[in-house]
Amino acid sequence: MKNFSFYSPTMIKFGEGSITKLNTILMGKYKRVLLHYGRGSIKKNGVYDGTIDELKKAGVKFFELGGVKPNPRLSLVREGIKIVKDNSIDLVLAVGGGSVIDSAKAIALGAATEKDIWDYFLGKERVKDALPVGVILTIPATGSEASMGTVITNEENSLKLSVNHDVLRPVFAIMDPTYTLSLPENQTFAGVMDILSHVFERYFTNTPNVDFTDYLCEGTIKSVIKNAYSLKKESQDYSARAEIMLAGTFAHNGLMGLGRQDDWASHIIAHQLSALYDTTHGVSLAIIFPAWMKYVYKDNLEIFNKFALNVFNISDAGKPKERVALEGIEKFQSFLMKIGLPTTLREGNIPRDEFFRMAEMATINGPIGALKVLNREDIINIYKLAE
Ligand code: NZQ
Ligand code: ZN
Repeated sequence: MKNFSFYSPTMIKFGEGSITKLNTILMGKYKRVLLHYGRGSIKKNGVYDGTIDELKKAGVKFFELGGVKPNPRLSLVREGIKIVKDNSIDLVLAVGGGSVIDSAKAIALGAATEKDIWDYFLGKERVKDALPVGVILTIPATGSEASMGTVITNEENSLKLSVNHDVLRPVFAIMDPTYTLSLPENQTFAGVMDILSHVFERYFTNTPNVDFTDYLCEGTIKSVIKNAYSLKKESQDYSARAEIMLAGTFAHNGLMGLGRQDDWASHIIAHQLSALYDTTHGVSLAIIFPAWMKYVYKDNLEIFNKFALNVFNISDAGKPKERVALEGIEKFQSFLMKIGLPTTLREGNIPRDEFFRMAEMATINGPIGALKVLNREDIINIYKLAE
């Protein structure tokens, strides 16, 4: 196990009706709030009205900026920074999913500095401070409600980049599983894949002697798969929605990776699909992860063997480790197919003519990954395996 430090300050209010806690969280602490949201789902499902009631009860002055698109764009972040600075706002309140939360975090970062916000994403500036961000979560997926990251797309050059720093961890997250009942099926299962991928990025590691987090990861993966099948049968199953929502936060607040070397190559490879073709994040991961697994499993047969045995209960009687590992990967891919996610570029209707460019963008800061360090050629091979 590696040495680590763990910081997870986000206060979580979880469960049906937890929005009613918002006014007491805000009262006396924040005076001027930027309410940030997406393209309308919160106005259809009542989340917007519930939030406004609470803001009024808390007696805060609030400003609004809607219109965040999935794979959130830099231009709206710049607009938000201006509103926050012009109006001396002291809390950015994200009501939505990862895109809204990430946009809110970037606004909070940009509003606390005179430097250009994109320079932080390019690594030219070091993060020191950010305004507080609060979250009302409407889709379990990214874990951004408690994570240290924000991922923004610069629409001028199709670069999708992230900034990671503890000051970007939201101060509170209100998580009501009933808010997720209105999710369309494709978003529900894209979210499921994203949650699993956040566990995978930590689980598939070369770090030895990490039993505690091995078991946490395996238990989380099993629970997410079980409840995904429940939602495939019945989308209005509150218990299954609650299980997935809880898993989503803890899959990406750092807990699963304690003492381990993370990987993150698959995320970087998948981000290029979103940057060029606006592919939904979870869909791009469903396409890339099986290909990545098939490309790297021989570099750590032990962990892929363990994945097959402990997550999918595959029998290893009389089988070589390599076969067991491959059966685990096949089981995982067949799970994705059963919940209706595309697992190839072809099924995702993604063009197959930009592999070199995407591999170049993925390695903009050098080789990626840890279980197997990947260079441009490796990444092109993974895109080819995903065809
Ligand atoms: O635009 P609205 O109306 O909000 O609709 C959204 C959007 O169309 C809709 N939606 C959300 N909640 C809903 C709902 N529709 C009906 N009922 C509800 N309750 O779902 C669509 C997708 O929303 P989005 O926020 O884009 O989804 P997600 O949470 O998957 O966020 C994806 C973004 O987060 C980044 C991804 O790269 C991507 O840009 N990530 C952020 C991370 C982080 N900050 O830690 C880590 C992740 O790995 C990821 O990279
Ligand atoms: Zn992700």
